[in-house]
Amino acid sequence: MVTGASEGIGRVFARRLAEQGYALTLVARNEDRLRALVADLPGVGHAILVADLSKKEGTSAAVNALSGESIFTLLVNNAGFGQLGDFTEIPLTRYEEMMAVNLRALVALAHVFLSRAKKGDGLIQISSTLSFFPMPRQAVYAATKAFVTSFTESLWFQYRKVGVTVLNVCPGSTKTLFADRAGGMRVPVPEFVTETPEQVVDAALRAFERRKGPTLVCGWKNRFAVFTARFVSRKVIVEVMGKMRQ
Ligand SMILES: NC(=O)c1ccc[n+]([C@@H]2O[C@H](COP(=O)([O-])OP(=O)(O)OC[C@H]3O[C@@H](n4cnc5c(N)ncnc54)[C@H](OP(=O)(O)O)[C@@H]3O)[C@@H](O)[C@H]2O)c1
Repeated sequence: MVTGASEGIGRVFARRLAEQGYALTLVARNEDRLRALVADLPGVGHAILVADLSKKEGTSAAVNALSGESIFTLLVNNAGFGQLGDFTEIPLTRYEEMMAVNLRALVALAHVFLSRAKKGDGLIQISSTLSFFPMPRQAVYAATKAFVTSFTESLWFQYRKVGVTVLNVCPGSTKTLFADRAGGMRVPVPEFVTETPEQVVDAALRAFERRKGPTLVCGWKNRFAVFTARFVSRKVIVEVMGKMRQ
């Protein structure tokens, strides 16, 4: 199962996994995009699940699929979105939806998947490089991703003992609809630190196959930034991040 498969990183995961022979269940809200993708994928046995993961019913539909008769050997918990803006400029409902998709649905799907997982199965969760940095003007989004990184690294430790591969993937800026859907950047992220979704997914699948958990930070520039941040105070980090987004 790949969540958020209608666009961007999830869409490339779907393509790569279908090329590897997986029969996929693709989850997102946009039915037309999911249908078009399935029609274009190699292999057989693919299904779509049109579900809004910000809603309890949508998450339940995906949970029910994972706990049904079909056997799922890999879950890519990818669906997620962000929102730019000063904290109170954005309605609370938008943050509630973000926390529902980025956190509640992700935890619920990981829970049902891991409760049935067997040796050789895998869980890939898409976090963000921002999980390592507080980010003014994306305060709630960065905090949701800090949760995902902490949560997934704990799962990695626990499930490797039973042979289930858990990987936390932290993309940096990636060329998808993400930034536009988040309201557009005032200061665009420079091209030289931006990756394509193909680069992110190929690196993630390599790390997954080699069991290089718990966390993959995508791109050496992002790895350098995360590494350097270890030697700098939290105050300096938030000052730098805040200035980048003013
Ligand atoms: N792009 C970046 O710069 C970047 C950087 C770091 C981390 N990430 C993370 O990477 C993941 C994928 O993002 P992306 O860059 O590929 O963005 P994207 O192109 O906007 O794709 C997001 C996917 O999530 C799905 N989604 C959003 N809200 C949903 C909802 N309520 N219910 C079900 N599905 C929903 C969307 O499908 P529908 O709209 O059809 O529902 C879409 O398939 C996210 O978790 C994001 O936080 C992205």
